[in-house]
Amino acid sequence: MIISKKLFDARNYEKNNANKILPQQRPAFHFTPYIGWMNDPNGFSFYNNKYHLFYQYNPYDTKWDSMHWGHAVSSDLLHWEYLPAALAPDMEYDLNGCFSGSSIEPPNGHHLLMYTGVYREPGKNKDFQAQCIATGNGIDYEKYDGNPVLSAVDLPKGMSFYDFRDPKIWRDVDGKYKCVVATCNKFGNGAILLYESLDAFKWTFCNVLAKNKNRFSKMWECPDFFEIEGKNILILSSQNMSADGFKHFEKCGVFCIIGEYIKSDNRFLAENKLPVDYGKDFYAPQTTVTPDGRRVMIGWLQNWSNVSDYRSDENKWFGEMSLPRELSLKDGKLFQKPISELEKYRQEKVQYKNRIISGDVSLKGVNGRIIDLELLIKPSSEKNIYNNFTIKFACSDNSYAMLTFYPKKSFLKYKMVCQTGKKIKTDEQKCYLISKEIMLKLRIILDKYSAEVFINDGEQVFSSVLLNEPNADKISFSCDGEAVLDVTKYTLG
Ligand code: FRU
Repeated sequence: MIISKKLFDARNYEKNNANKILPQQRPAFHFTPYIGWMNDPNGFSFYNNKYHLFYQYNPYDTKWDSMHWGHAVSSDLLHWEYLPAALAPDMEYDLNGCFSGSSIEPPNGHHLLMYTGVYREPGKNKDFQAQCIATGNGIDYEKYDGNPVLSAVDLPKGMSFYDFRDPKIWRDVDGKYKCVVATCNKFGNGAILLYESLDAFKWTFCNVLAKNKNRFSKMWECPDFFEIEGKNILILSSQNMSADGFKHFEKCGVFCIIGEYIKSDNRFLAENKLPVDYGKDFYAPQTTVTPDGRRVMIGWLQNWSNVSDYRSDENKWFGEMSLPRELSLKDGKLFQKPISELEKYRQEKVQYKNRIISGDVSLKGVNGRIIDLELLIKPSSEKNIYNNFTIKFACSDNSYAMLTFYPKKSFLKYKMVCQTGKKIKTDEQKCYLISKEIMLKLRIILDKYSAEVFINDGEQVFSSVLLNEPNADKISFSCDGEAVLDVTKYTLG
């Protein structure tokens, strides 16, 4: 296969420069780009006995620009091997970027990528977006001669070809290909379009699967649509989140619509809408199915609106992925749990049962920064419930992250304090709990640059980038009354 100069240059650059990033400068088990900038996960799939993860990628800088697709493979979804960049913006129809997309394995054994090509027509002052295909062998991908396969002419009336992106493709049980693509109307209100195809190259429009009626911010991005336990789930991301009813969201956010898809006329009847992550740092997730049938989701552990606060140019990479999470449905809600493969890396168990916590307490052996921490917090008496219980983690003398549980008010408060140079930065956020119980169950997964908190068996998840020194590893607890704590800590190695 002949590769373009742009792709050749990107591959050459990453090969010659990525080795300047030392392994200790990366998270222990969260994916980071080979070098440079990364945003959305793309083409998350299982192909040729390996998981493939592509990503929005600018190898040349730690800033967003000139979107390529980076590429890596893994056997356990936790340890990734970098492969050469898969796509570069090297064709007329994608010259301004190979934006997000997805992938599948058609029966002919190829790996097929579907992505958004961004281009500008001469004389116009705005970019157009259209959907394109590339096929390959798991390393090299050739763009289809007939690209783009979905463009302005395929849009229903009134929908925007300036915002027409992020195709998620899948193959139905009847062998037909389907894809959902995000767009918006002239008022900027998001809509998700459903298309179908017999060969994944020639597509026909089926229906508008979902429309934003000014309730869930404006434009929607990165749709994913799949079935779990008989229900259909549409996952959407939005950069200006101010969603009706979701009191915690401020800016970028991810939410899901759970409902029923009526295949005969391609309608999606919404039943329930819920946030997918209650922290600030989770965006543009994508799912795939493992060979043993688990629906697994991975997202960008970041948020567009705080990218500039978070950038530290000492690292030659920017952006990490979340831990892959297994999805399930319970009582009409989407539950998430860290990928089971993580449990294989648990070491050095430290456990305390029924520990009374009153005032400030640290427990011998309960510390660490690359850990899996399980907590069960109960009041010591149902008649005398404390007001707040705090767990402080990733602490050093002048920085920490902290979660405070208010059982009488059913919310968690998150606070992160860190010092950069002489400046102290504080970040605070509230997470209202679905469960109004006075007992709280948490599983906190810490890595050098992140905290992911799975609340009440994954009924809610809260993700945050950690900005302080990656070796700040102290943990302590405090309660203004009396709480009973079970805690199990594993080092992850
Ligand atoms: C979401 C997004 C996508 C787009 C990509 C560009 O984070 O805005 O809609 O395809 O990033 O990098």
